[in-house]
Amino acid sequence: MSALPQPVTAAEPRHFLDLCDFDSATLRRILEISSLLKRGGGPRAPLAGRTLALLFEKPSTRTRVSFEVAMRQLGGEVTVLTDRDMQLGRGETIADTARVLSRYVDAIMLRTDRVWKLKELAAHATVPVINGLTEASHPCQLMADVMTFEEHRGPIAGETIAWLGDGNNVARSWVHAAVRFGFRLRMASPQSCQIPLETLAWALREGGDVSITRDPAEAVHGARAVVTDCFVSMSDDPGRNSAAELAHYRATVALMRQAAPDALFLHCLPAHRGEEVEGDVIDGHWSVVFDEAENRLHAQKGILAWALGLLS
Ligand code: CP
Ligand code: NVA
Repeated sequence: MSALPQPVTAAEPRHFLDLCDFDSATLRRILEISSLLKRGGGPRAPLAGRTLALLFEKPSTRTRVSFEVAMRQLGGEVTVLTDRDMQLGRGETIADTARVLSRYVDAIMLRTDRVWKLKELAAHATVPVINGLTEASHPCQLMADVMTFEEHRGPIAGETIAWLGDGNNVARSWVHAAVRFGFRLRMASPQSCQIPLETLAWALREGGDVSITRDPAEAVHGARAVVTDCFVSMSDDPGRNSAAELAHYRATVALMRQAAPDALFLHCLPAHRGEEVEGDVIDGHWSVVFDEAENRLHAQKGILAWALGLLS
């Protein structure tokens, strides 16, 4: 009697959930692949036959389009679903959704305002899960942001970057990036919406150089890049953030003039001119926000290549 085939033990899926989960070398390797693919290098159609599911519980322009185009340019396919399209919206569990989707697709990206859902999805999926933004972080954005800084100004390690405004999901990913990519991060926020103390404590434990001030001029002084984001995020309860308090942290021309002479301005977009940033800053010579938006496409190709095992 011939022996039954042994079940194959699948390797652990390569989730991309947060920059703090990675060592610096892996993040660097992903960015190298992103740059290689941006230059047109690498194999042709490396993701032919692979499908990515894009799950959106919150709106998106950049994340949706850049992942769709990235997958297609790499030879793969996508299926895009919102919570209204799925049985998830009628009470099917995340765990069952993860198990089912894992039988159809090769990777899953989720945008949600409940980070526990991302963790639950990753715990039960047998394919890689990618964080397309939660209320707690936005790691794909930071891969594009680091790539953009380095394309314009060279290695980010050792540089000083200033964050202005709400200590939101993007701000927390900036903290993770500061530690993993080795740059100094000075954050200016009102006390009511500074980054959570546990995020700061994590950075300090990891040996990072991250500080918080109430004074935006102190944060931007000599900084090589100034970064901000909207004052009200998709997951915020109405009234959480005080517009009057945050107005003091707007990225203004006056503040940009106190940064390094060749400082860049970054913003993940969407932007609100006259709220978190003056029009003359985001539309001025400092701004690289559209390069940053473009680099979502290239950075995510690197993330997909890593997650789907195309690089070690
Ligand atoms: N920056 C960013 O994630 O944009 P979207 O919300 O349009 O995806
Ligand atoms: N902090 C913003 C980022 C949008 C890309 C939000 O969560 O709405």
